[in-house]
Amino acid sequence: MILLALETSCDETSAAVVRDGQVLANVVSSQIKLHAEYGGVVPELAAREHLKNLLPVAQAALAEAKISPARLDAVAATQGPGLGIALLIGFKAAQAVAFALAKPFIGINHHEAHLYSPWIQYISPSPLQGEGAGVRGLSAVGSTDANISSSKLSGPSPSIPLLSEGRGRPDFAADFVSFQPNISLIVSGGHTMLVLVESELKHRVLGGTIDDAAGECFDKTGKLMGLPYPAGPIIDRLAEQGNPAAFDFPRPLLHDANDDFSFSGLKTSVRYFIRDHPELLDDRQKVADLCASVQAAIVEVLVKKTIRAAKRAGVRCVTASGGVTCNGGLRKALATACGKNGFTLRLADKSLCTDNAAMIGILAERKLRMNQPLTAWDEEIKPGWQLA
Ligand code: KG4
Ligand code: ZN
Repeated sequence: MILLALETSCDETSAAVVRDGQVLANVVSSQIKLHAEYGGVVPELAAREHLKNLLPVAQAALAEAKISPARLDAVAATQGPGLGIALLIGFKAAQAVAFALAKPFIGINHHEAHLYSPWIQYISPSPLQGEGAGVRGLSAVGSTDANISSSKLSGPSPSIPLLSEGRGRPDFAADFVSFQPNISLIVSGGHTMLVLVESELKHRVLGGTIDDAAGECFDKTGKLMGLPYPAGPIIDRLAEQGNPAAFDFPRPLLHDANDDFSFSGLKTSVRYFIRDHPELLDDRQKVADLCASVQAAIVEVLVKKTIRAAKRAGVRCVTASGGVTCNGGLRKALATACGKNGFTLRLADKSLCTDNAAMIGILAERKLRMNQPLTAWDEEIKPGWQLA
């Protein structure tokens, strides 16, 4: 099955071509620089950029995969949740393509795609990588780091045959043969969730944030320190040179028995701390200490609550995905905690943690193969679609 997937739920325009569980192309055009000027995502600007970029991005993905539209067997797109006017662009375009080709269409829940993204495995660098695999101004996803496993992942990776056509070896492929029931942490700019995944496509949300998401906490505390948006990756970098025990910030809901999170109190505590010690911001080392201390508070809550949920659920595997899963401190702390507790850890590849169409395409193909219901060519977007 050859499938085209589009993702435009927030500030990344992305298109992927997936064939039989292999990602033939995954092109992402990020708008981060544009929105940075405004300190956050401006929906109207995001929509304008999606309109401008969607066609070149989709064409780049099809060209990279060496697949003509006529050869597509199905089309997918993010249906929700997300910014309404951004979602509309990718979703309606994908429906139009499916209608024109008279092919099945499936709308995907963005969080569900994150949830299964740890089961997309890195294979090898593409032969096209480094030669401008995408098109100018677009970045083709390709960088990676390996999944970490407390005990080695069971069995060898499935061997990926050379494609008779298409771009050669794909960079990523679905690895559902390794699937184990797991507790999954989804951490992004808009959401923080713990989900019990009992079997493939069978999952239940255990808890979520009652106020700010973890990524929001990174971004907002960074803003208080004068860092540009999105501050998460910058805090991550600065934290490497800082002392995580330099300042003591609260670990909200850490000792509550539920699986919920709350980060607005932590943000407020950082706000008052900076108000009372503004001189710290003039000292590079103190800023690094501040970043390390804030990150330590966020990471401790995320990791401890994830491990506790995994123990309670009786699963042997932990997974994590979403933009904040790029965070070096979080990746290390999860690896350490899982190692100590004998859990296998599967982290989404860093290049698939932030928004991308590859995860939409892999999940869509899986759903089609498992005979899940199609989405009508004229169904509407669901901006508030929550994972159940
Ligand atoms: O999943 P994502 O790309 O978009 C949403 O659906 O929100 O996540 C973006 C969030 C931002 O808040 C950003 O600051 C955060 O992920 N983020 C990080 C890192 N990389 C991205 N936070 C901490 N450390 C990072 N390395
Ligand atoms: Zn996302």
